[in-house]
Amino acid sequence: MFVSENLSVNSQGNLTIGGADTVELAQQYGTPLYVMDEQLIRSNLRRFHESMQKNYQGMGLVCYASKAFSCLEMCRVVASEGDGLDAVSIGELYTAVKAGFPMEKVGFHGNNKTDEELRYALEVGVGHIIVDNLPELERLERIAGEMKACPHIMFRIKPGIDAHTHQFIMTGQIDSKFGFALETGEAFEAVKEALSCQNVKLVGVHCHIGSQIFDIDPFEAAAKVMLEFIAKVKNELGYEIPGLNLGGGFGIKYLEEHDPAPFEVYMERVAAVVDEQCSKLGIERPFIYIEPGRSIAASAGITLYTVGARKEIPGIRTYISVDGGMADNPRYILYQSEYEAVVANKASQERNEKVTIAGKCCESGDLIGENMPLQHAESGDILAVLATGAYNYSMSSNYNRLQKPAVVFVNEGKSRVVVKRQSLDDIIANDV
Ligand code: LLP
Repeated sequence: MFVSENLSVNSQGNLTIGGADTVELAQQYGTPLYVMDEQLIRSNLRRFHESMQKNYQGMGLVCYASKAFSCLEMCRVVASEGDGLDAVSIGELYTAVKAGFPMEKVGFHGNNKTDEELRYALEVGVGHIIVDNLPELERLERIAGEMKACPHIMFRIKPGIDAHTHQFIMTGQIDSKFGFALETGEAFEAVKEALSCQNVKLVGVHCHIGSQIFDIDPFEAAAKVMLEFIAKVKNELGYEIPGLNLGGGFGIKYLEEHDPAPFEVYMERVAAVVDEQCSKLGIERPFIYIEPGRSIAASAGITLYTVGARKEIPGIRTYISVDGGMADNPRYILYQSEYEAVVANKASQERNEKVTIAGKCCESGDLIGENMPLQHAESGDILAVLATGAYNYSMSSNYNRLQKPAVVFVNEGKSRVVVKRQSLDDIIANDV
């Protein structure tokens, strides 16, 4: 009935998430409000790590991409499931440290890490650093020498695979700011360079081909190319790279018509390619890492708003304005992302209108979506936008000096705040 499996309608006709009534949540905590279902986050993590276990016999690690949604409690949940973490900034690292995350299970990413970030990563003992470019390798070699550390590194490689997704979230193609190119020999030269370094140890190669990808074929193609590279390095340099990180990017269902492959099928098919290639190329099967972000968090979350003005422009469209918008969900203005929406207090009724949901920021483009099927929404109704658990809170801003909403976790009908709503004093906290 709804895009996410954890949503339902109760006897009052209200939308529920993880057994909690969304209208009551809106009353209790106020709107806008992010609500996340902890059980669905956990079961998504388990689906990944169980199929990792099954297909790679435990020789793999799921590293949740915390850019999708990071806060202390999320790090604690991931840690308690025994999974790893992918962090892309000192802020994400700091959050993991403060949550007591086992830092040896953390991979540190970024195409332009600062010296401060590299130092911090070494200080807190991250498991590995995914190096993006040669100047970074040189800086890391120097900093590691100064700190008497010997970090494990992987190289981010552009496998030259074009995944079919929005161009802003496509990353594995040749024209990309991320990583080393394969076909120009740049990646091979980087490996040679790393093998001659004193203070870093090359333990893997990494690729990430993009995000919100429905097909399995580009993942298979990327795995194949990466294993060929490992074999080339073995044959020509005599060093067998022990790890392969295949990134994230698994698509999720935002709309009814979306039909992503189940994670298990992805894992099974890619594992078959890995096994086949390894025996064909005469290399050991590497330790496999994956970095799912969206597929862990997105479907577990919804955003609740209170409906304000309803504006009917005859022959043109009907605007439904809500008390949030691009500051808490910039994905429409950035990528024209589509969402499903429901009037939470009328969830059992038909969605028989088509409306434009508008935010409250001073921009015409500040929309949650256009042409969205919705129940008849009026001022005071609670509107739920579905599958907003990834890249909504994490990309939110204080534009127009709006306060960032609270994040509430629900777990089998019970709720608790995991991120407080910003106060007005938070808005001016750094002003001098
Ligand atoms: N690993 C690396 C190296 C990445 O760059 C990303 C995402 C991931 C893993 C996780 O990808 P996921 O499984 O979440 O697709 N803000 C955009 C998405 C940007 C993704 C950036 N990198 C959005 O809202 O759609």
